[in-house]
Amino acid sequence: MRTPIIAGNWKMNKTKEEAVSFLQEVKGKVPSGEKVEAVVCSPDLFLDALVQEAEGTEVKISAQNMHFEEKGAFTGETSPKALKDLGVEYVIIGHSERRDMFGETDASVNQKVHAAIDHGLTPIVCVGETLEERESNKTSDVVTRQVKEGLKDLTKEQAALVVVAYEPVWAIGTGKTPTAEEANETCGVIREALATAFSRETAEAVRIQYGGSVKPANIKEMMSQSDIDGALVGGASLEAESFLQLVEGGN
Ligand code: G3P
Repeated sequence: MRTPIIAGNWKMNKTKEEAVSFLQEVKGKVPSGEKVEAVVCSPDLFLDALVQEAEGTEVKISAQNMHFEEKGAFTGETSPKALKDLGVEYVIIGHSERRDMFGETDASVNQKVHAAIDHGLTPIVCVGETLEERESNKTSDVVTRQVKEGLKDLTKEQAALVVVAYEPVWAIGTGKTPTAEEANETCGVIREALATAFSRETAEAVRIQYGGSVKPANIKEMMSQSDIDGALVGGASLEAESFLQLVEGGN
């Protein structure tokens, strides 16, 4: 059985004070990690404070990006080693905003996925089609390519550790969503791509999240689908109460 995973991606929001007070509000209220994993994906600036605040609780802390090198002359970047050292457990890799605005490619995603696994971080690898790709019936091809290239050269055991987030680009922050059945169908395509690239066993172990305008009102329907194991949530994860409802909905 795959443990559901609900992750709140704050993107470039919150001050340190707001971040810490969010954690203080939610940390005693999330259910046991055996039922559902609750993850907060914060800007790097607050990771240290959040890891300390979350210690001994069921909340896990994630970064939103990282560099693939362990150290060196990469001004402004954060290394996987530094994240691990802080006590961060997850890292989002290849979010569509990073692919679109910061030049990330399947190849750079792959480098980062390897680096995350090598450093004991769990990568949440984002895939998803643009509206144009969807309208020209390329959704399956796009997500299959992103999975194959993004996870290239991992062993079956390493691939089984990865979380894949299916985020149709046109559904992010727009209030538009595919139907739960449509989202599930594409998550099924992703699982088939994993089975082809690795093994059926690996594909069955990987957790696949849906992301894109998830809110407390639609989380349960998404979670009722056979191939959807969680959600990666932006806007609706910013308020503590709403985040707790999402985690509850993932349970
Ligand atoms: O990573 C989560 C995200 O891209 C979805 O954002 O605001 O549509 O939930 P939102």
